[in-house]
Amino acid sequence: MNQLLHLEDVTKSFGRVTVAKDLTLSVSPGEALGIVGPNGAGKSSLFAMISGDLRPDSGAVWFEGRDVTDVPPHARTRAGIGRTYQVPRPFEHLTVFENVLVCGYQGAALKGKEAWQHTMGVLERTGLADLANTPAGRLGLLQRKRLEVARAVGTNPRLLLLDEVAGGLTEPEVLELVTMVKQLHAEGLGIVWIEHVVHALVKTVGRMVCLAGGDVVANGDPTQVLADPKVRELYLGGGPETDLPEEAAS
Ligand SMILES: Nc1ncnc2c1ncn2[C@@H]1O[C@H](COP(=O)(O)OP(=O)(O)O)[C@@H](O)[C@H]1O
Ligand SMILES: [Mg+2]
Repeated sequence: MNQLLHLEDVTKSFGRVTVAKDLTLSVSPGEALGIVGPNGAGKSSLFAMISGDLRPDSGAVWFEGRDVTDVPPHARTRAGIGRTYQVPRPFEHLTVFENVLVCGYQGAALKGKEAWQHTMGVLERTGLADLANTPAGRLGLLQRKRLEVARAVGTNPRLLLLDEVAGGLTEPEVLELVTMVKQLHAEGLGIVWIEHVVHALVKTVGRMVCLAGGDVVANGDPTQVLADPKVRELYLGGGPETDLPEEAAS
């Protein structure tokens, strides 16, 4: 199997709420995949099963040809899976530099000078170099989102999972974030990006999946997925953050 990530028949329920139902999904090395779906569709739970925070009831998660279903989160990070959380979780009292340095130490097993150089490189790549000495708790929302991505990138992943990093940003800020994610993708990182701000996805990803009821509703070219009647129905019944691009909303 030469997939970067492969989920095979993954099922997971919380009591009567099913967040994944025989879900099968693959990501190729270096691919950028976008995931959309209504609130409660199970998108963040999917990331939790990929990162190891949540164990599926049945089915398997494969990373780079290895079954990681029973591998704990810290070992998946070391193996090359980096994730952000929907609500950023920096160490508020540490500086931006220290926050990313910790991820290099713990997530990428870097030490000493190598870890410091790596951290500076990550801050450059995520547009945070000028804020290196600022405590995370003093950052505005865009910079907090950048830091959330920087902490994931700091673990040296080959697969980067982004959970609604564009949420709550202004339009120019969203575009700044898109530029950053595209740059990371151009460097060869495989990316899976869950996002309600779908135009950001359309600008960035080569393929899109729509999840609902714990399963894949549509999968393919982003513009075609957004134009799919099943997807449009889910979104027209969706929340105020629903943001279909022109071509899909016509
Ligand atoms: N740890 C948990 N325990 C119980 N229910 C949960 C847990 N995590 C998520 N859920 C429920 O699973 C459903 C899907 O949640 P989530 O994966 O966060 O959806 P999404 O990210 O697509 O909005 C929701 O109904 C949520 O309340
Ligand atoms: Mg979510």
